[in-house]
Amino acid sequence: MESALDWHSARALLEWQLEMGVDEVLSDGPVDRFALEVAAKQAAAERQASPAKRGGATAPLRAVKGPDPVEEAVKAARGAADLDALREAMGQYAHCDLRHGARNLVFCDGVAGAPVMIVGEAPGRDEDRQGKPFVGRAGQLLDRMLGAAGLSRDENVYITNVLPWRPPQNRDPKPDEIAMMLPFLKRHIALAQPKLVVIMGNISCQALLGKRGITRLRGDWVEAEGKPALPMFHPAYLLRNPGAKREAWKDLLSLKARLEGRV
Ligand code: URA
Repeated sequence: MESALDWHSARALLEWQLEMGVDEVLSDGPVDRFALEVAAKQAAAERQASPAKRGGATAPLRAVKGPDPVEEAVKAARGAADLDALREAMGQYAHCDLRHGARNLVFCDGVAGAPVMIVGEAPGRDEDRQGKPFVGRAGQLLDRMLGAAGLSRDENVYITNVLPWRPPQNRDPKPDEIAMMLPFLKRHIALAQPKLVVIMGNISCQALLGKRGITRLRGDWVEAEGKPALPMFHPAYLLRNPGAKREAWKDLLSLKARLEGRV
């Protein structure tokens, strides 16, 4: 029999969930984790009791080799002739599970072909909702920082992220997720053809430079994907550590000077 929930009970349940920190819907229906656990235990017991096992013989293990996600990404990215095709190819790419928990693929914002390309880490909640990178609090700080240096995403800045899908609960991207999306990022930089790249934060340094340690890396020009690149503190880090804005400002001046050919 269907049990109807009255308005007050439904509201109380919703408020309770909000208090428990539930603020995202990940699937259409509820998942009964207890039932899954019971089913897994039953399946394990059945495997134990299988004739092959009882007779002492173990069923031969056959390695089932699926397509390699990184190779697939390399092929898909290479096949994209322009930015629209790249966005399309990423939308079709099925190997990264993050896509299932995300509302939108966050591809880019700003001016395609702009001289400065910023590479952030991954979309957060606001970016996932709007489908654009850096639109939440960190993004607003980024816009103020850029504005102070005479730069803006409406004129001379193009922005993307290492990952196009929001990781659940904003956890750090996993190494395999970075590895499989990296071919797309590399192609993105090649197609956007910026003069300079800004690598924001540790995850982006890990992806493009193969190393972390933003406190040491920031401020020193390096090369990434054949372009002069500047690692900088991530604006989310600056929100937590306002004292580091001093260094960020120095880095912005260095970016501006390089852009104007003064160094
Ligand atoms: N942080 C990022 O690195 N990228 C975004 O798009 C938003 C927050």
